[in-house]
Amino acid sequence: MLKQSLFLDACRGIRRDRPPVWFMRQAGRYLPEYQAIRAKHSMLDTIRTPELAAEVTLQPIRRFGFDAAIIFADILNPLIGMGLDLDFVEKSGPIIRNPVRSASDVDKLIIPDPASNTAYTARAISLVAEELTPRGIPVIAFAGAPLTLSAYALEGGKIGDLRTLKEFMFAEPKAWQRLQEKLVAMIVDYLVQQVDAGASAIQLFDSWLGQLSPYQYQTAVEPYLRSIFDQLRARTSVPLIFFSTGTFGLFPEFSTLPIDVLGVDWRVPLSRAADALSRPLPLQGNLDPITLIAGGAGLDAEVARVLEEGRSLRAHIFNLGHGVLQYTPVENVQRLIDLVKGYRR
Ligand code: CP3
Repeated sequence: MLKQSLFLDACRGIRRDRPPVWFMRQAGRYLPEYQAIRAKHSMLDTIRTPELAAEVTLQPIRRFGFDAAIIFADILNPLIGMGLDLDFVEKSGPIIRNPVRSASDVDKLIIPDPASNTAYTARAISLVAEELTPRGIPVIAFAGAPLTLSAYALEGGKIGDLRTLKEFMFAEPKAWQRLQEKLVAMIVDYLVQQVDAGASAIQLFDSWLGQLSPYQYQTAVEPYLRSIFDQLRARTSVPLIFFSTGTFGLFPEFSTLPIDVLGVDWRVPLSRAADALSRPLPLQGNLDPITLIAGGAGLDAEVARVLEEGRSLRAHIFNLGHGVLQYTPVENVQRLIDLVKGYRR
């Protein structure tokens, strides 16, 4: 585990002469060298072969010099060991062939032993850390949050308005609670496993949380999120990052969670995000990923604007407001990195 770097300093609220920069989905289909690997190996095989996962994690670091690496995996593959039949279908996305539909389905779910369920990711992290630690670049561990994992487990595939999830939440409150508790146990063990393997920070992804009302958040989500962060605080010493989308209305609530950094999507300016918090958290974000596809003078102007917004924060980690999209030109990514790395406060 790396103890100090530009990125880790920012996570702890220490501002240096420029913000660190990394992207969600920085390893992915916009990179020709990633596509070359995926032409020969399926998504799940790439995730489950430590040498391939490590190679794909390192590709964007070599090409662009990001200030942090996020381990290549998905939020969904750990669900396999719970008994869910997950696959990634080419050009369509993830599918779970035996979704959870009843209280007895919840009871059948297993809390997996990470040593057998996700040993491949732990091994991939140690391979990446071996190469990056001497270069002072940290590895980020990640997992999906219980609400977002529940969305896939219950809906089974394409996700829209979360109708199946919300119906289950209302009709089966006890089963909902048991599902959340099992997911919390899986997530905490999995993240601790990743830190033990050499990761230096943790990011929890809650991509679908923006579909819930504040009341649903308070009653059906917040207790489990808090439990995860409390347990991670007790069992690790790494910075904790929370990312969600479409959740600006919940930012006052988020500031009471025991987190170190809040990820912000592109829908709200960073300065307004900071104003909504009850304590000055370092913020991560928040360039619109489509701006990065568009490039040109519009990209330059948006990067300058986000950097400027970041100046008034406790600390700023430059990122996109969501993951890099497939048709992003690599030269635009390079341009963004050059702009951020050339910036001085
Ligand atoms: O950020 C990184 O570089 C690390 C790898 C990573 C992936 N998925 C690889 C991936 C991370 C952090 C994720 C998180 C993830 N996965 C989230 C949360 C963040 C978000 O985007 O909201 C979610 C909701 C998923 C579930 C998921 N995985 C979906 C909906 C899809 C299909 C849509 C798509 O973009 O293809 C995936 C597939 C996936 N996960 C790919 C990658 C690189 C594309 C697979 C391919 O190569 O074809």
